[in-house]
Amino acid sequence: MADKKTAKKGDFKNLLSPIEIKGVEIRNRIALAPMNTLMSLDNRGYVNEQILAYYGARAKGGCGLIITECVLGTRLAARFPYTTNLHCFNTSHLPGLFEVAETIHAFGSVGFVQMSIGFGRQGHSHTGEHPPAPSVVPMMIKPELMPNGFGKAIEAHPQMIERAMGEMPYEMTVAEIRGEQDEFANSCRFAMAAQFDGIELHAPHGYLEHQFLSPITNRRTDLYGGSLENRMRFMLEVYMKVRESVGYDYILGVRMSADEHLPGGITHEEALEVARTLSALGADYIHLSDGSYEALKYFFPDEDGAMLEESANFKKAVDVPVICPSVHDPALAEEAIASGKCDIVSLGRQMFTDPEWGNKVAEGRIDDITRCLRCNECLMRTASGLPVRCIRNPNTGREKYISEYHRPPQKLTPVTKMRVPPKLPEMKEDF
Ligand SMILES: Cc1cc2nc3c(=O)[nH]c(=O)nc-3n(C[C@H](O)[C@H](O)[C@H](O)COP(=O)(O)O)c2cc1C
Ligand code: SF4
Repeated sequence: MADKKTAKKGDFKNLLSPIEIKGVEIRNRIALAPMNTLMSLDNRGYVNEQILAYYGARAKGGCGLIITECVLGTRLAARFPYTTNLHCFNTSHLPGLFEVAETIHAFGSVGFVQMSIGFGRQGHSHTGEHPPAPSVVPMMIKPELMPNGFGKAIEAHPQMIERAMGEMPYEMTVAEIRGEQDEFANSCRFAMAAQFDGIELHAPHGYLEHQFLSPITNRRTDLYGGSLENRMRFMLEVYMKVRESVGYDYILGVRMSADEHLPGGITHEEALEVARTLSALGADYIHLSDGSYEALKYFFPDEDGAMLEESANFKKAVDVPVICPSVHDPALAEEAIASGKCDIVSLGRQMFTDPEWGNKVAEGRIDDITRCLRCNECLMRTASGLPVRCIRNPNTGREKYISEYHRPPQKLTPVTKMRVPPKLPEMKEDF
C-alpha cells in the first residue's frame, strides 16, 4: 500500500487507469457518488446554474465518472420527493438535463444519470397524501441505527422527525405497478436523449425497488411477494422494461444495497443473487451501497472502506464492473482496485469536502487533500430540508459564484450524430 507521506503519481496507477464500459472509456476509476444536494431548491424538478457548477467542479476536479443525484422518473414519484429532487418524465425536463450532460462532457468526464422510479414509503408528500408502496408498512427510523451526529440534529431540527417517521403508505395495485414501470421506462428515453452516457437505476437504500425486495416492507401475497423470485420481480421488470426502451447498446447499471442489515430484511446472499440475475440479464455494472433509512449508519458509514468486503463478494458473483462507495483514503482506494475488490470507487461526502480529490491524487499531492470528517453536517442539513453545505469547504453549494467551475466552450456534436433512443415496436392501428 502506498505511504501517504511519500506518495508519488505511480503509486496510484490502478486508481488512475482507464476503464471501458460498453465502448465508453472512463479516464480513471474515480466516480462522484450520486447525491441529492437539494440544490434544485424547489419541487418543480428543473436544473439551475448552481447544479451545473456543482457537477462542473467535480468533473474538473478529476472524477472520470459523474453519477448524478437521483432524478424522479414518473409523475407519481415526483409527488413524493425526499425534499426537492430533479425530475425527468416529460420533454420540458430535457434541456436542463442536457446542460448537465454537456457540462460533464466539457470537463472530459463521462456522465451517468441516476433514475428513480420512486421512494415509496420513504417519500414525502408534504401535504399528508399517502405514498405508494408494496404494502402498508410505515417507516420508523431507529436512533441506535443512525450515523454520527444524527441524534443531536433531530433534537435541534424538529422537521427531521417528519423524515424519521414517514407517512402511512398505501398498497400499489398490479395495474398501478405496471403503469409506473411503463412510464418510467419511457422517461429513461428522455434521460438518454439528454446525452448522458448511461443510466443508473436507483434501487438501494430502502426506496421503492428495495421495498419490493425486502420481506420487511413487502408483505404481498400476489406475484410480487413471498419468495425471493417474487420479491425481485418488480426490480427485474423495471430493469427489462428500461433495457428494451433504451436498447442493448446503451449503458444501463443498477445501484442496490449489498445487505439490508435488519433482522428479517434482505440478506447479503439474497442481494448477491439479485446482482447475479441482473448481470445475466445484461446489466452493465453494479453500484453498491448498503442499508436503508431504517439502517442509516450502513448507508452513511462512519468508517472508511466499510463496504469493501461486501464489494469483494459481488466481484466474485458477477462478471461486470462493481462500483464501491465510501473509500476516501487514496491508498485504500488504490489497494481496493489493485486487489480486485471493486473496479471503480465512488466518493460522496469526500467530494463535498474536496472536489479536487482526483487531480490531487493524479499529481501525488495526497497531503493537500482536505479530508471529510464524516461528521454528517452536510447530510443533517439536507435531512432538515436545507441545501447542502460542508463544514470544511465553504464553496460547496456556492459553486455557481466560481467561474472556473463554469463549463468551458465545447465543440458541438451535430444533432444527427447525437445519441437517440431506439425505435419502439410500432403500435397497431386497432390497438
Ligand atoms: C447529501 C447526500 C445525498 C445523497 N443522495 C443520494 C442519491 O440521490 N442517490 C444515491 O444512490 N445515494 C445518495 N447518497 C449516498 C451516497 O451516494 C454515498 O453512497 C454515501 O454518501 C456514502 O459515501 P461517502 O462516505 O463517500 O459519503 C447521498 C449521500 C449524501 C451525503
Ligand atoms: S460536512 Fe463536510 S466534512 Fe462533514 S461529513 Fe459532510 S462532507 Fe464530510
